[in-house]
Amino acid sequence: MKSKPGFGVYVHWPFCLSKCPYCDFNSHVRHAAIDEARFVRAFAAEIATTAARVPGREVSSIFFGGGTPSLMQPTTVAAILDAIGQHWTIAPDAEVTLEANPTSVEATRFRGYRAAGVNRVSLGVQALDDAKLKELGRLHTVQEALDAVAVARSIFDRYSFDLIYARPNQTPEQWGEELKRAIAEAAEHLSLYQLTIEPETPFFALQSAGKLKIPDDDLGRDLYDTTQEICRKAGLPAYEVSNHARPGAECRHNLVYWRGDDYAGIGPGAHGRLEIDGRRYATATEKRPESWLMRVEASGHGLTVDEALTREERADEFLLMGLRLAEGIDPKRFAEIAGRQLNPKRIADLRSEGAVETTPAGHLRVTQACFPVLDAVVADLAA
Ligand SMILES: C[S@@+](CC[C@H](N)C(=O)[O-])C[C@H]1O[C@@H](n2cnc3c(N)ncnc32)[C@H](O)[C@@H]1O
Ligand code: SF4
Repeated sequence: MKSKPGFGVYVHWPFCLSKCPYCDFNSHVRHAAIDEARFVRAFAAEIATTAARVPGREVSSIFFGGGTPSLMQPTTVAAILDAIGQHWTIAPDAEVTLEANPTSVEATRFRGYRAAGVNRVSLGVQALDDAKLKELGRLHTVQEALDAVAVARSIFDRYSFDLIYARPNQTPEQWGEELKRAIAEAAEHLSLYQLTIEPETPFFALQSAGKLKIPDDDLGRDLYDTTQEICRKAGLPAYEVSNHARPGAECRHNLVYWRGDDYAGIGPGAHGRLEIDGRRYATATEKRPESWLMRVEASGHGLTVDEALTREERADEFLLMGLRLAEGIDPKRFAEIAGRQLNPKRIADLRSEGAVETTPAGHLRVTQACFPVLDAVVADLAA
């Protein structure tokens, strides 16, 4: 499956119309109009500065994430893609994804995004139940979301949508029915996230006050198993913990992260990983949009973190990200990065416990049964 390493560009659009009560992404609500032209200049400046550090790369994927990138005007998206193309070569078959909220207003912009060069959209449908969408603080109805999916289908060859499960009071039977309905609307890719209660969100406060009861570990496990079984039967197996695709339809941009390839992080609160002179740098930018703008206008970039990773940090990250994938990791690649082999005794113990296995390609992977306890397996291997 693995060909030459990818190089991704992640572009963060940090604004939303309202803040969903479960979300801790870097997203902000502004009541005044956003000066998109000013943002375009800043994005272009940060792209130029980043490209000067890693020149000559061929971009295999671009991802507009957020926040809500579908609030951007198509001309803004086109200008950012233009800037990327001026400083790097964009591969002819590059995957260019834009995250969209499924409202009718946003769907009207899809054609413009396509003309700008976007060739894949990822829609935040979240639930196929109006009452649940309300509880999640969403601004769209089920019908609006399905209409947006239909518009996406008519314009883009590739689209995906997200659902959140393990929601308060959800049973495996209800979820199973909802998921089957979703699969009927899906083409090649679905992201299915278990609801996580993030600190400092309204859902966290509600849960702490005993007013929000989310599934316990056992029910969470049942919901996860239901998800795997239904998706597998439908030809959409998990290729990553929360991501399902028909073989060959995986999100290439996300594979860049999980396979440990390089990516540039552009925009407020964007993370990047760049190999420069044999060292891998972890980068992150200022999260607050207006502060990021001012930094970029003053110095050409919004970096607040720019650190060379140690060998051990790199190796840990390689395991943590790579073992999320059903394809697993190449132990030889681990040895190159870490300067040592994975501990054979630990692997043998985990293998006898049924937690890891070797694929026909010689990769090490976490077994299906142990995916729900992935973090513990990785911690054991990395120790
Ligand atoms: C950054 S959001 C962007 C998508 C877009 N703004 C939207 O909400 O439709 C990416 C996805 O993360 C998921 N997500 C965000 N917060 C989550 C949480 N606390 N638990 C589970 N999934 C979450 C949602 O499915 C969401 O579509
Ligand atoms: S889930 Fe999406 S729309 Fe809601 S606040 Fe987060 S980024 Fe914005």
